[in-house]
Amino acid sequence: MTGDVGATQSFYGRWARAYDWLATAPGVDSWRERAVDALALDPGDTVVEMGCGTGANVSHLRERVGAEGTVVGVDLTHGMLRRAGERVDCAGRENVHLVRADARQPPIDGPVDAVLATFVVGMFPDTRPVVERWIDTLAPGGRIALLNAGRSDRRAAAPFNLGFRAFVRAAAPGDGRVSPTESLERRVRAARDGVYANCPEHGFEEFGLGYLGLAWGEQPE
Ligand SMILES: C[S@@+](CC[C@H](N)C(=O)[O-])C[C@H]1O[C@@H](n2cnc3c(N)ncnc32)[C@H](O)[C@@H]1O
Repeated sequence: MTGDVGATQSFYGRWARAYDWLATAPGVDSWRERAVDALALDPGDTVVEMGCGTGANVSHLRERVGAEGTVVGVDLTHGMLRRAGERVDCAGRENVHLVRADARQPPIDGPVDAVLATFVVGMFPDTRPVVERWIDTLAPGGRIALLNAGRSDRRAAAPFNLGFRAFVRAAAPGDGRVSPTESLERRVRAARDGVYANCPEHGFEEFGLGYLGLAWGEQPE
């Protein structure tokens, strides 16, 4: 993805239903649980999800912050938000707010207790300043978590890397100068560096056969 708003909306608008099917496939939920765990949310907290897509994380977030907390989902694409809205309507909407906006300049005054972005930062050409802006919205002790996919260097994963590359090419056309997979990985690394440089407490874990990387950071109290 080039960071072009029109291209993003057109791609995800067209594929919202199919994406939702993938986003909620068996097994994917456990990755989402891990990402939400990394936020160490308490009841009553406010959490913002950047690029919330079809809302696959929302129930996990809602469960942690409880009825007295707040979940805000920000996304650019109408079709994705519509599906997120359907999901929220089924589960109860009271403390969930879905906002159509550019997550690179989120309309969030802050401070908030946590920021989550899953499979999103790889879409921004200049991703580190975006992540730093998100970190700026965090309250003291607030946390950020970024979950992303990349090629795995584990031997057992080698046969799947071709499939991964094909998937990225279809979903994230890139800027034509480097391969979409390299471009995605470079952006994800830059985002992670932004977390490490701006959050004294931080960590990283890999799972899903090495395809998934979860970076988190915490602001000082
Ligand atoms: C790969 S999907 C991930 C969706 C969701 N986070 C998940 O884990 O299933 C990427 C999402 O980011 C959204 N997106 C891309 N660029 C964005 C931007 N600048 N601002 C807000 N949302 C954006 C797309 O509309 C899409 O819903």
